[in-house]
Amino acid sequence: MEKTVSEAIAYRRSTRIYKNESINPEKVKQCLVNASLAPTSSNLQLWEFYHITNKETLTQIAKACFNQSAARTAQQLVVVVVRKDLWRKRAKANIEFLNKAYDREGLSEADLKRKKMVMNYYGKLIPSVYTDFLGILGFFKYLLFQIVGLFRPIYRQTRRSDMRIVAHKSAGLAAENFMLSMAAIGYDTCPMEGSDTLRIKRILKLPRGAEINMVIGCGIRDGKGIYGPRFRVPFDEVYHKV
Ligand SMILES: Cc1cc2nc3c(=O)[nH]c(=O)nc-3n(C[C@H](O)[C@H](O)[C@H](O)COP(=O)(O)O)c2cc1C
Repeated sequence: MEKTVSEAIAYRRSTRIYKNESINPEKVKQCLVNASLAPTSSNLQLWEFYHITNKETLTQIAKACFNQSAARTAQQLVVVVVRKDLWRKRAKANIEFLNKAYDREGLSEADLKRKKMVMNYYGKLIPSVYTDFLGILGFFKYLLFQIVGLFRPIYRQTRRSDMRIVAHKSAGLAAENFMLSMAAIGYDTCPMEGSDTLRIKRILKLPRGAEINMVIGCGIRDGKGIYGPRFRVPFDEVYHKV
């Protein structure tokens, strides 16, 4: 039986050594379906999930992760990839989906208003935020928005670096969905940013615009696979009731 959300959160630990015991790739894939259900900025889903089960590729990726044991002993690996470069394609997919959703007779006034709003959102606002040229356009938008922002609330994340954060933020949420789904079925994981991302991109034959968000080791925890009790700073230090 699957664990509850709280049970899965408590069970999930970064596992550095896995048992030499296979895990079911179909189950891992299902956990990746759950990953793709994570919330994402503007529903642009600027992510891809590479599920590595091939022995040779596993060895290559583990090497690119500096052969750390969480990668070396993993039965399978998942690479969460950020595809900010696909924003046009994803915006178009949203428009097509919405066109179908609103393709019926007798739309109410409120429906028509909402349709116009979302079409403007994906047809005009998203391109105005995501269009950039070598970071230059983004920087000028940023300056302009800072000036407008003196007078009214405005979206400020327009520089190339801001847009990268936006995309990686959503990918991180997908990664956590994945790891919790794995925990819920008794599978273990370890998120890793300790890797040579350029080498990983080459191994996976990813285009220039793709970015590695994290590599996730997958398997079943060995008795010595968790390096110690969980440490968190006191909750009071991070909790602020306003
Ligand atoms: C973005 C990210 C990158 C991480 N990179 C590594 C890594 O390269 N190697 C590793 O052993 N652990 C890595 N970790 C795991 C953290 O060390 C771990 O989450 C933290 O110590 C808390 O332990 P817990 O996950 O068991 O609660 C990473 C975690 C995150 C979220």
